[in-house]
Amino acid sequence: MQTQELNLPQLPNQNGLNNHQQQYLNDFIQRYNQKTPTSKKQAHTYRHVLADVRGSAGFRTAIKEIVYPIVGKYASGSRMWDIDGNEYVDLMMGFGVNLFGYNPAFIKEALTERLEQGIHIGPQSDLAGEVAELFSELTGMERVTFSNTGTEAVITALRLARAATGRHKIAMFSGSYHGHSDASLVKTRIQDEVTQVVPMFPGVSPTVVADALVLQYGNIQSLETIKQHQTELAAVIVEPVQNSRPDIQPKEFLHQLRKLTQDAGIVLIFDEMLTGFRIHPGGAQAWFGVQADIATYGKIVGGGMPIGAIAGKAEYMDRIDGGMWNFGDTSAPQVQTTFFAGTYCKHPLSMAAAKAVLKYLKTQGSSLQEELNQRTSQFIQQLNSYFEEDGVPIKLSNCGSIFNVVPFGDPSNLANSPASANMDLIYYHLIHKGVFLRPGGGLLSTAHTDEDLNFIIQAVKESVKELRNGGFLP
Ligand SMILES: Cc1ncc(COP(=O)(O)O)c(C=O)c1O
Repeated sequence: MQTQELNLPQLPNQNGLNNHQQQYLNDFIQRYNQKTPTSKKQAHTYRHVLADVRGSAGFRTAIKEIVYPIVGKYASGSRMWDIDGNEYVDLMMGFGVNLFGYNPAFIKEALTERLEQGIHIGPQSDLAGEVAELFSELTGMERVTFSNTGTEAVITALRLARAATGRHKIAMFSGSYHGHSDASLVKTRIQDEVTQVVPMFPGVSPTVVADALVLQYGNIQSLETIKQHQTELAAVIVEPVQNSRPDIQPKEFLHQLRKLTQDAGIVLIFDEMLTGFRIHPGGAQAWFGVQADIATYGKIVGGGMPIGAIAGKAEYMDRIDGGMWNFGDTSAPQVQTTFFAGTYCKHPLSMAAAKAVLKYLKTQGSSLQEELNQRTSQFIQQLNSYFEEDGVPIKLSNCGSIFNVVPFGDPSNLANSPASANMDLIYYHLIHKGVFLRPGGGLLSTAHTDEDLNFIIQAVKESVKELRNGGFLP
């Protein structure tokens, strides 16, 4: 008989849990460890030498024994197999890379063929021109250049904007992620009723805040602030659909922002790292009907190989190389350039994969994204209906095939936040049941089948049931 039934007081222990909860958690941790022993062993064996943020992400004392990354061994289609041989339906999809699932034949073939030609870095890539043409055709951007990561693409886009305008300040929005350069690792803090911009993490240079404005996304007041700083602003960078808040899709705001930046000569940068090629072949710009001056891309277009892309109007992109000139006449580069480089830019394997991806996207047309978006919306609706009917304090939202847990109802309700105490247990339960994801959300690919989606829904229902039995959900 439980102490609850005897009406005895349930005093929380040092983990904030009552006896029943603690017993359930102990049992779950044991089951989780038994299923994934080699992942845990690797985390322990290599921690002293491998400095790895994923090794301690989400650490809290109560669940310490299950805080380790699942080590992947194989991946194919919508599935991943870990080092212990467990099979998972994968909703992480390479943080948004794998639009077509893992290891699609057309990318594998392109990479295998390319490997035979050797990895030559130094000579011009024989594929870069063709990839640029395909890229421009699909996105509508005039010119493009390639980096190795999204972070580099954002750094470059900001530099191009500064070079073109001669101004320094960059406006960005809270909740957005633009990679890990100092320039974008800033946030606002309210001190003595004054909102200040401060570094987000120790080690981020405090000098970067002088050039940063951090504003609220979708808030009309933010447009006023931009107007006030218009003569100092080189660019406004936007993550048009924030990964963490796919429910915020402020179309009207973005149209007003476009007009304002155009009038003020401020470069509008869309960070299309997640949205590019995913929600629409033309990304968030086509989705919202807004044309940015520069857009940054990565993930999907690299087909699993590292890539970043900076694309935009020629007047900005010309800062890379001086712009258009011809052989056989007196023409010469006209535009003063800034600096852009990188040993691995236009890497032969990345270019081969990008060519395969872009050609595939071109032949598939927009129905690829439309069908996937619709399937994701149905999937999310199904889950939300279940949560509502069953009184589970969780709500999901999606934009195209990107979905995440979003706050809803009474903001004081702790269960609204995926980060709130014990809500991470759902994530661990899903992993235990064979659904690989990151806390809060995920992405669907064209490789996910109805069977996969039903499997996930079933796993969610079973996880909720178990967590209720354990006293972790109302
Ligand atoms: C919107 C956005 N911008 C930039 C980045 C950084 O890209 P990368 O991790 O390739 O440096 C990411 C990565 O998740 C992203 O989602």
